[in-house]
Formats: sequence, structure tokens, C-alpha cells
Amino acid sequence: MEKVEKKKQSSTTVLQSEKLIVQFGGFKAINEFSFQLSDRELHFIIGPNGAGKTTFLDVLCGKTKPTSGNVLFKESIELGKLYEYQIVRKGVGRKFQAPSIFPSLSVMSNLEIAMKQQKGFWHILRAKLSEGDKEHIHEMLTLIGLKEESNRTAGTLAHGQKQWLEIAMVLMQDPELVLLDEPIAG
Ligand SMILES: Nc1ncnc2c1ncn2[C@@H]1O[C@H](COP(=O)(O)OP(=O)(O)OP(=O)(O)O)[C@@H](O)[C@H]1O
Ligand SMILES: [Mg+2]
Repeated sequence: MEKVEKKKQSSTTVLQSEKLIVQFGGFKAINEFSFQLSDRELHFIIGPNGAGKTTFLDVLCGKTKPTSGNVLFKESIELGKLYEYQIVRKGVGRKFQAPSIFPSLSVMSNLEIAMKQQKGFWHILRAKLSEGDKEHIHEMLTLIGLKEESNRTAGTLAHGQKQWLEIAMVLMQDPELVLLDEPIAG
């Protein structure tokens, strides 16, 4: 597994792993992987099937715990010690390898749910969106090219449109770090 650096601007370290190891039984899915990501950088992690890319993202979002080593978020937060929901609240958003939208709801409802998740439980119970919320959703629909499809059932979208919708759902949560697992797959 190797990393390809695409853009570099400033020096705050957003992510840092040092000799990270993840072992499943006797098998090392990640073997001493060191990685660094600075503020406003875009990195691609490439490698063949089974190289450990998804496993690395699983560690970053708390789904899998490191066997040895850890990953620091914003220089002091040890992601390997937090639960998934805590990591989301710290500002890490993830798009999974297969689209995980709500297929029976409209495109608009999917974005509303994503927005309300970010605002918390009491906001979910409140039926109405503010004008600012609606504007934010419309901006997002324009950004992902789904403005004309806002009332369409999400499950009927083309695969690529579902991928965009899920990326938008991650962005609605206003994350500081966005993880995309094979966003153009399929
Ligand atoms: N929970 C698990 N238990 C056992 N082995 C696992 C587990 N998760 C992943 N693996 C193994 O770890 C290795 C790395 O898998 P991973 O899914 O991270 O690879 P990847 O680089 O994302 O591959 P792909 O390009 O196919 O998505 C694979 O051999 C996989 O079978
Ligand atoms: Mg993968």
C-alpha cells in the first residue's frame, strides 16, 4: 500500500499514524503503515485488492481497533481509543465503498436526515427545517448535480448518482476530515 500526495498547502497535521499494525488472527492486514496528512491536503491511498485500504479507513472511523500503534487526529486525539460515534462528533466523515443511502426515501429526505443527524436528537424530532437549512440542502443538490431529482426515490437513482448523494450526506455533517472509500467504484 502506498500513498500518493496530490496537494500541499499548510503544516497543521490532521492525521498521523506511525507503524500502524492491524492483525486479524495471525494475518496482518496492515503492517507498520506510517501516514501523515496536513490541513487542506488531498491524499489518495492506492494498492491492490486486499492491500488494507478499507481496513485503514475502518481504523480511522473506529470500526476496527489497531493491534499496535495508533492514529492521531489533529495532533492529540487518539482515534484508536474512541467509539465510532465519538469520532463522527470529532469531525470525521466517511463514505463507504458501497453506497449506503436510504433507498426508499427521496433524495431530499436523505439530505435532511444527514443534516439532522449532525444537529442531534432534538432536531430530528422537530418537523420543520429552517430557511437556512433548506438553502443549505439546495446548494448541496446543485453541487452534486441532483437538483432536478430532489423528489425522486433515492433507490431509483443511477449508481453514480447514489455515490454523489452519499458524498453529499457526508458533507452535510460539515466534517473536518472526509474519508472516501473508492468513491468512483462502479
Ligand atoms: N474483519 C476481518 N477479519 C479478517 N480479515 C479481514 C477483516 N477485514 C479485512 N480482512 C482482510 O484484510 C485484508 C485487507 O482488506 P481490505 O478490505 O482492507 O483491503 P482493500 O485494500 O480495501 O481491498 P479492496 O481494493 O478489495 O477494497 C484482506 O485480506 C481482507 O480479507
Ligand atoms: Mg476496500
